[in-house]
Amino acid sequence: MKVVAVVGSNRKDSYNKKLALYMQQHYKGKIDIEILPIEQLPMYNQDDELTPPAIVTDIKKKVAESDGVLFITPEYNHSIPAFLKNAIDWFSRVDKVMIKKPVMIAGGTPGVQGTVRAQIHLRQILAGIGALTLPGNEVYIGAIHEKMDEAGKLVHEPTIEFLNSVVDNFVDWIGKAKSL
Ligand code: FNR
Repeated sequence: MKVVAVVGSNRKDSYNKKLALYMQQHYKGKIDIEILPIEQLPMYNQDDELTPPAIVTDIKKKVAESDGVLFITPEYNHSIPAFLKNAIDWFSRVDKVMIKKPVMIAGGTPGVQGTVRAQIHLRQILAGIGALTLPGNEVYIGAIHEKMDEAGKLVHEPTIEFLNSVVDNFVDWIGKAKSL
Protein backbone atom coordinates (compact mmCIF):
# COMPACT_ATOMS: atom_id res chain seq x y z
CA MET A 1 0.00 0.00 0.00
CA LYS A 2 1.58 3.23 -1.19
CA VAL A 3 1.00 6.30 0.96
CA VAL A 4 2.47 9.77 0.46
CA ALA A 5 3.12 12.00 3.47
CA VAL A 6 2.76 15.77 3.43
CA VAL A 7 4.42 17.45 6.41
CA GLY A 8 3.35 20.98 7.34
CA SER A 9 6.66 22.20 8.74
CA ASN A 10 9.80 23.24 6.86
CA ARG A 11 11.81 23.64 10.10
CA LYS A 12 15.03 21.63 10.29
CA ASP A 13 14.29 20.13 13.74
CA SER A 14 10.53 19.85 13.24
CA TYR A 15 8.79 17.43 15.59
CA ASN A 16 6.22 16.74 12.89
CA LYS A 17 8.93 15.87 10.39
CA LYS A 18 10.40 13.52 13.01
CA LEU A 19 6.96 11.98 13.49
CA ALA A 20 6.71 11.40 9.72
CA LEU A 21 10.14 9.74 9.68
CA TYR A 22 9.18 7.61 12.69
CA MET A 23 5.97 6.49 10.97
CA GLN A 24 7.87 5.71 7.77
CA GLN A 25 10.11 3.32 9.71
CA HIS A 26 7.58 1.96 12.19
CA TYR A 27 4.88 1.06 9.64
CA LYS A 28 7.20 -0.35 6.97
CA GLY A 29 5.61 -3.56 5.67
CA LYS A 30 2.11 -2.32 6.45
CA ILE A 31 2.29 0.92 4.44
CA ASP A 32 5.06 2.23 2.25
CA ILE A 33 5.34 5.96 3.14
CA GLU A 34 7.06 8.43 0.85
CA ILE A 35 7.55 11.92 2.32
CA LEU A 36 6.91 14.52 -0.39
CA PRO A 37 9.34 17.47 -0.69
CA ILE A 38 6.64 20.17 -0.53
CA GLU A 39 9.29 22.69 0.60
CA GLN A 40 10.29 22.72 -3.10
CA LEU A 41 6.88 23.93 -4.26
CA PRO A 42 6.74 27.57 -5.34
CA MET A 43 4.04 29.84 -3.97
CA TYR A 44 0.81 29.02 -5.78
CA ASN A 45 -0.14 31.46 -8.53
CA GLN A 46 -3.22 30.88 -10.67
CA ASP A 47 -1.37 32.32 -13.68
CA ASP A 48 0.95 29.29 -13.57
CA GLU A 49 -1.48 26.46 -12.87
CA LEU A 50 -1.82 25.26 -16.49
CA THR A 51 1.94 25.35 -17.11
CA PRO A 52 3.40 24.74 -13.65
CA PRO A 53 7.06 24.14 -12.83
CA ALA A 54 8.15 20.48 -13.10
CA ILE A 55 8.27 20.01 -9.32
CA VAL A 56 4.53 20.77 -9.09
CA THR A 57 3.74 18.19 -11.77
CA ASP A 58 6.05 15.61 -10.14
CA ILE A 59 4.57 15.99 -6.66
CA LYS A 60 0.98 16.00 -7.91
CA LYS A 61 1.67 12.83 -9.91
CA LYS A 62 2.88 11.11 -6.73
CA VAL A 63 -0.28 12.16 -4.92
CA ALA A 64 -2.45 10.98 -7.82
CA GLU A 65 -0.73 7.58 -7.95
CA SER A 66 -0.82 7.01 -4.18
CA ASP A 67 -3.37 4.85 -2.35
CA GLY A 68 -3.73 7.51 0.35
CA VAL A 69 -2.32 10.71 1.78
CA LEU A 70 -1.01 11.21 5.31
CA PHE A 71 -0.98 14.82 6.50
CA ILE A 72 1.27 15.50 9.49
CA THR A 73 1.12 19.09 10.60
CA PRO A 74 1.89 21.55 13.34
CA GLU A 75 -0.56 24.27 14.32
CA TYR A 76 0.25 27.89 13.46
CA ASN A 77 -2.00 30.56 14.96
CA HIS A 78 -4.87 28.13 15.50
CA SER A 79 -4.78 26.88 11.91
CA ILE A 80 -2.53 25.07 9.45
CA PRO A 81 0.78 26.65 8.36
CA ALA A 82 0.65 28.63 5.09
CA PHE A 83 3.36 26.24 3.85
CA LEU A 84 0.88 23.35 3.98
CA LYS A 85 -2.02 25.38 2.58
CA ASN A 86 0.17 26.25 -0.40
CA ALA A 87 0.67 22.56 -1.23
CA ILE A 88 -3.06 21.88 -0.87
CA ASP A 89 -3.88 24.80 -3.19
CA TRP A 90 -1.66 23.23 -5.88
CA PHE A 91 -3.25 19.79 -5.27
CA SER A 92 -6.76 21.22 -5.60
CA ARG A 93 -6.46 22.67 -9.09
CA VAL A 94 -6.54 21.47 -12.74
CA ASP A 95 -6.21 17.68 -12.32
CA LYS A 96 -7.55 17.91 -8.70
CA VAL A 97 -5.50 15.05 -7.27
CA MET A 98 -7.21 14.94 -3.86
CA ILE A 99 -10.66 13.96 -5.13
CA LYS A 100 -11.70 10.65 -3.50
CA LYS A 101 -8.25 10.30 -1.94
CA PRO A 102 -8.28 8.53 1.45
CA VAL A 103 -6.63 10.72 4.09
CA MET A 104 -5.23 10.38 7.59
CA ILE A 105 -4.19 13.40 9.68
CA ALA A 106 -1.77 13.52 12.62
CA GLY A 107 0.07 16.30 14.35
CA GLY A 108 1.98 17.30 17.42
CA THR A 109 2.90 20.40 19.41
CA PRO A 110 5.00 21.05 22.49
CA GLY A 111 1.81 22.62 23.93
CA VAL A 112 -1.07 20.62 25.36
CA GLN A 113 -3.62 21.09 22.55
CA GLY A 114 -1.72 18.89 20.10
CA THR A 115 -2.85 20.68 16.87
CA VAL A 116 -6.56 20.13 17.45
CA ARG A 117 -7.59 23.52 16.00
CA ALA A 118 -5.33 23.13 12.96
CA GLN A 119 -6.75 19.68 12.28
CA ILE A 120 -10.33 20.91 12.47
CA HIS A 121 -9.49 23.48 9.79
CA LEU A 122 -7.61 20.89 7.74
CA ARG A 123 -10.57 18.50 7.75
CA GLN A 124 -12.81 21.31 6.53
CA ILE A 125 -10.39 22.23 3.71
CA LEU A 126 -9.98 18.60 2.65
CA ALA A 127 -13.75 18.04 2.58
CA GLY A 128 -14.00 21.05 0.27
CA ILE A 129 -11.63 19.49 -2.27
CA GLY A 130 -13.27 16.07 -2.25
CA ALA A 131 -10.77 14.12 -0.11
CA LEU A 132 -12.04 11.24 2.02
CA THR A 133 -10.91 11.83 5.60
CA LEU A 134 -12.21 9.09 7.89
CA PRO A 135 -14.39 10.77 10.56
CA GLY A 136 -13.14 10.31 14.10
CA ASN A 137 -9.77 8.81 13.18
CA GLU A 138 -7.77 11.55 14.93
CA VAL A 139 -4.28 11.86 16.43
CA TYR A 140 -3.42 14.92 18.52
CA ILE A 141 -0.04 14.66 20.23
CA GLY A 142 0.35 17.27 22.98
CA ALA A 143 3.74 17.75 24.70
CA ILE A 144 5.34 15.93 21.78
CA HIS A 145 8.86 16.92 22.91
CA GLU A 146 8.38 14.75 26.01
CA LYS A 147 7.22 11.77 23.95
CA MET A 148 10.25 11.54 21.66
CA ASP A 149 13.82 10.60 22.48
CA GLU A 150 16.90 12.64 21.48
CA ALA A 151 16.89 11.06 18.02
CA GLY A 152 13.26 12.05 17.40
CA LYS A 153 11.87 8.55 17.85
CA LEU A 154 8.43 8.29 19.44
CA VAL A 155 8.95 6.47 22.76
CA HIS A 156 5.71 7.14 24.66
CA GLU A 157 3.99 3.74 24.66
CA PRO A 158 0.34 4.90 25.05
CA THR A 159 0.84 7.30 22.11
CA ILE A 160 2.45 4.56 20.01
CA GLU A 161 -0.42 2.15 20.75
CA PHE A 162 -2.99 4.78 19.88
CA LEU A 163 -1.17 5.72 16.67
CA ASN A 164 -1.06 2.02 15.71
CA SER A 165 -4.84 1.80 16.00
CA VAL A 166 -5.40 4.95 13.95
CA VAL A 167 -3.06 3.67 11.21
CA ASP A 168 -4.90 0.33 11.20
CA ASN A 169 -8.17 2.21 10.71
CA PHE A 170 -6.56 4.21 7.89
CA VAL A 171 -5.40 1.04 6.10
CA ASP A 172 -8.91 -0.38 6.42
CA TRP A 173 -10.33 2.94 5.13
CA ILE A 174 -8.07 2.86 2.06
CA GLY A 175 -9.52 -0.56 1.19
CA LYS A 176 -13.11 0.57 1.68
CA ALA A 177 -12.64 3.88 -0.16
CA LYS A 178 -11.79 2.06 -3.41
CA SER A 179 -15.46 1.14 -3.81
CA LEU A 180 -16.80 4.64 -3.06
C1 FNR B 1 3.31 28.27 16.73
N1 FNR B 1 3.02 27.33 17.70
C2 FNR B 1 1.70 27.08 18.05
N2 FNR B 1 1.36 26.02 18.86
C3 FNR B 1 0.06 25.77 19.16
O1 FNR B 1 -0.22 24.79 19.87
N3 FNR B 1 -0.94 26.56 18.67
C4 FNR B 1 -0.69 27.63 17.86
O2 FNR B 1 -1.60 28.29 17.43
C5 FNR B 1 0.68 27.91 17.53
N4 FNR B 1 0.99 28.96 16.71
C6 FNR B 1 2.27 29.10 16.24
C7 FNR B 1 2.54 30.04 15.23
C8 FNR B 1 3.81 30.14 14.69
C9 FNR B 1 4.08 31.11 13.56
C10 FNR B 1 4.85 29.30 15.19
C11 FNR B 1 6.25 29.40 14.58
C12 FNR B 1 4.60 28.41 16.18
C13 FNR B 1 4.09 26.52 18.29
C14 FNR B 1 4.31 25.27 17.46
O3 FNR B 1 3.41 24.27 17.90
C15 FNR B 1 5.75 24.76 17.66
O4 FNR B 1 6.66 25.75 17.19
C16 FNR B 1 5.98 23.43 16.96
O5 FNR B 1 7.22 22.89 17.38
C17 FNR B 1 5.97 23.59 15.43
O6 FNR B 1 5.98 22.32 14.82
P1 FNR B 1 7.32 21.66 14.25
O7 FNR B 1 8.01 22.68 13.38
O8 FNR B 1 8.15 21.30 15.46
O9 FNR B 1 6.87 20.47 13.51
